[in-house]
Amino acid sequence: MDKKTILITGASSGIGLACADRLSQRGWTVIGASRRGTSGGAWQGVAMDVDDEGSVSEGIAGVVAEHGRVDAVLANAGWGLAGSAEQTSMVDAHAQMETNFWGAVRVVHAVLPVMRARGGGRLVLTSSIGGVIGIPFQAFYSASKFALEGYGEALAYEVEPFNVHVTLVEPGNFKTGFTRSRRLVSVPNDDPYAGAREKAIGLMERDEEHGAAPGDVAKVVERVLAARRPPRRVSAGKFDERIGLIAKRLIPFRVFERAARSSLGV
Ligand SMILES: NC(=O)c1ccc[n+]([C@@H]2O[C@H](COP(=O)([O-])OP(=O)(O)OC[C@H]3O[C@@H](n4cnc5c(N)ncnc54)[C@H](OP(=O)(O)O)[C@@H]3O)[C@@H](O)[C@H]2O)c1
Repeated sequence: MDKKTILITGASSGIGLACADRLSQRGWTVIGASRRGTSGGAWQGVAMDVDDEGSVSEGIAGVVAEHGRVDAVLANAGWGLAGSAEQTSMVDAHAQMETNFWGAVRVVHAVLPVMRARGGGRLVLTSSIGGVIGIPFQAFYSASKFALEGYGEALAYEVEPFNVHVTLVEPGNFKTGFTRSRRLVSVPNDDPYAGAREKAIGLMERDEEHGAAPGDVAKVVERVLAARRPPRRVSAGKFDERIGLIAKRLIPFRVFERAARSSLGV
């Protein structure tokens, strides 16, 4: 049987794990990459740090050597950084971009020649609602996903002639390991942002704890991969979160901003 092969980064937990489990059940050969390199049993785990160029190129070369193909990639590895923009050190800000933006770029760079040589492929990039709507006290997380949105949109024009299709998946709040692995920026004792920061971060953590199950994103990704003409963007999650994306794109920004404040906790 002609089984298609997908590489999923960030497969050891949450959304990536749910996608790896679902797609392997649906007949895909799944290679799930993460720093831990754990496997879900039904699919193959591989250790890969998307922050590290050598690790990514070695990992993808290994997949190609073993399977001879990469039909699709879900570039999904990521983590969150929370704190005021002013108090975020350049080191922390760079680290956030390194994984969430440059990590996805590294994987795409390594895999595109393989896809072009085989006559096509699918690139699915895990963005976020925070990649369309700026999230207060997550400025660099939002920046990393806004960057991914611009990159994916531009890339799509370039690779379409090679039958490579790009989709940005924009999840709302999901209950995963994301909340636990969020890094908080260090703050001074006399922190002028303390009250606002604690309120906004508290609200976002509550929303994630009550978030949808990551299997919902897996269903969306499965649909994207099966579509003959995959969408450029697709959202996943609760309706009241996804409606924010439509509102941001349709209504005057000042009106949107006023309405968004309470759900953003500011
Ligand atoms: N949960 C949400 O509410 C939500 C909403 C919108 C978007 N997202 C996005 O969804 C994606 C997955 O997040 P999640 O919610 O599933 O969180 P999660 O449960 O914490 O999973 C994150 C995954 O990324 C991997 N990872 C982190 N840094 C990595 C690196 N440098 N190299 C390779 N793998 C790395 C982690 O594995 P290791 O630690 O083993 O490396 C883990 O498998 C992220 O891009 C996130 O921004 C999440």
